Amino acid sequence: MTEKLFTHYKPKNTSDRVALIFTKLLRLFADLFFKKRYGHRAVILETVAAVPGMVAGMLNHLKSLRSMQQDQGWIKILLDEAENERMHLMTFINIAKPSVFERLLVIIVQGIFFNLYFIMYLISPRTCHRIVGYFEEQAIVSYSEYLDEIKNGNIENVNAPQIAIDYWNLSQYARLKDVIIAVRNDEMGHRDVNHKFVTLLDQQNEENDLTVTTESSSKEKL
Ligand SMILES: [Fe+2]
Ligand SMILES: [Fe+2]
Repeated sequence: MTEKLFTHYKPKNTSDRVALIFTKLLRLFADLFFKKRYGHRAVILETVAAVPGMVAGMLNHLKSLRSMQQDQGWIKILLDEAENERMHLMTFINIAKPSVFERLLVIIVQGIFFNLYFIMYLISPRTCHRIVGYFEEQAIVSYSEYLDEIKNGNIENVNAPQIAIDYWNLSQYARLKDVIIAVRNDEMGHRDVNHKFVTLLDQQNEENDLTVTTESSSKEKL
């Protein structure tokens, strides 16, 4: 479990490096803004985390319509990811109440991030899935720090909200710690799936390159 918890995909090319720099920059802003206010951090960042799955799901849906080809199950996985992230938000809103300024920030950030991610996905779906993979790596770090703060007694281990008990099928006696562990498990799943999407996209590109090379070499023979 522990070794699966903090896996990091080492960047291998420019697309990976762009994704990592983008993620580190956002992490820096989040660290400066939230410091140790983990409840607020979870609320605000989950409003961002729920965007990529919806954008990528929508764009893959449109691509499937245009190409009249199957999506290999990607659309459902991506839309499920968006829904799962939205449920994280619905959970944490019961733990921390955002200020008026934070609510305003959410509106502005959504306006920028949705459009940015949409355009970036049109240009390079590969980089976008890598970004989500890296976002999730960071989310796992943040939720682990949140758990440490509870263990140290700096944050109260309050009762789990009912919405979380119902969603993750937790015990009626579940506490905030149990909720964070469940959320962190979800983030591990998103991390692995998005890194895997990049691997699949790379394989597709290699196969396409191979087809082009084979076609051009058979034409040369003719
Ligand atoms: Fe999340
Ligand atoms: Fe996530």
